[in-house]
Amino acid sequence: MLRYLTAGESHGKYLSGILEGFPAGIKITRDYIAAQLRRRRQAPGRSARQARETDSFEIISGLRGNITTGAPISLLIANKGREIPAPSSLPRPGHADLPGMLKYGVTNASLIRERASARETAMRTALGSFALRLHELLDITINSRVISLGALTGLNAGTAAAELLRARSYGDTLGGVFELTVENLPAGLGSCAQWDQRLGARLSAALMGINGIKGFELGGGFGLAATGGIQASKDPGLSGGLDGGMTNGRALKLRCAVKPVPGLPGGALATDIRSFRKKLSVSKTSDTTAVFAAAVVGEHAAALVLAGALLEKFGSDSFKELRPRVEEWRKKTKRILSRI
Ligand SMILES: Cc1cc2nc3c(=O)[nH]c(=O)nc-3n(C[C@H](O)[C@H](O)[C@H](O)COP(=O)(O)O)c2cc1C
Repeated sequence: MLRYLTAGESHGKYLSGILEGFPAGIKITRDYIAAQLRRRRQAPGRSARQARETDSFEIISGLRGNITTGAPISLLIANKGREIPAPSSLPRPGHADLPGMLKYGVTNASLIRERASARETAMRTALGSFALRLHELLDITINSRVISLGALTGLNAGTAAAELLRARSYGDTLGGVFELTVENLPAGLGSCAQWDQRLGARLSAALMGINGIKGFELGGGFGLAATGGIQASKDPGLSGGLDGGMTNGRALKLRCAVKPVPGLPGGALATDIRSFRKKLSVSKTSDTTAVFAAAVVGEHAAALVLAGALLEKFGSDSFKELRPRVEEWRKKTKRILSRI
């Protein structure tokens, strides 16, 4: 079973992570992991704070000479700028602050922010880069693209940059939608046997587990509800590559809606939990949008789910065993799928 855990706080010394159940014999370099972390850190819309972060990391275990050994992989990512924030009794609207303060019985919102921060997604990205590499070696491609930024669709780098500038000049932030496409997945990953083994359930949990994601759609998604069965049956792609909780041999397609960043440079009205006075909660270092960075995290979160499903089907001890099994399965299923 492939599983992972992260620990660490936004202003702690390190983030740490463990990935267990990953096969032996997979070549992955430090540069590969660093490049994935860079994609997340330098995504459009991020704040100047990101320029200070370097995401310098250490691989503690699970690799010998750039090759995985099959042992649990553990990583540390260093945090820069580690001054512990001052205590604050002002929970920021739209954040984990208030429910977290109630849940843990504390009046200092900083204690909640430390772990709820999306800084943690750096570790999910680092661990996910192992899964991404596994897919790459099996010729499975995972790509993301942002399809809307705020109300703007049909984006290119220029229009996105202009929209971000415009929002920033008003002290505003933006949400957006990203789409993930996974190609060349073997058919039959996931399961129809139990609700929690259905691949759509597993993917939605991983994607909805990313901070700020408020919507998830597979294939035709919400639009399918308004489509007649006759029309829908003409386009098998509308099921998003999954039928009955299993990959069906077609491209997997999903979309996620990311809410606008709640931290506003001009401040949002909040209620102090001690005095119950209204005050402005100002976020000077917030990102203008998280959608581009969340898309990168989404690729990695999906890669981990799909790697888990692959290893369940084909075995997880070594890549040497895994590869011929996948190839043989592809040949066998292609004979059938190509005639349907
Ligand atoms: C990569 C990434 C970066 C983010 N950066 C910020 C930020 O700078 N400021 C902010 O207020 N929210 C930011 N967010 C969003 C918050 O983490 C998120 O809104 C918060 O956790 C509450 O959202 P939830 O209700 O979906 O958990 C970011 C999210 C992601 C995925």
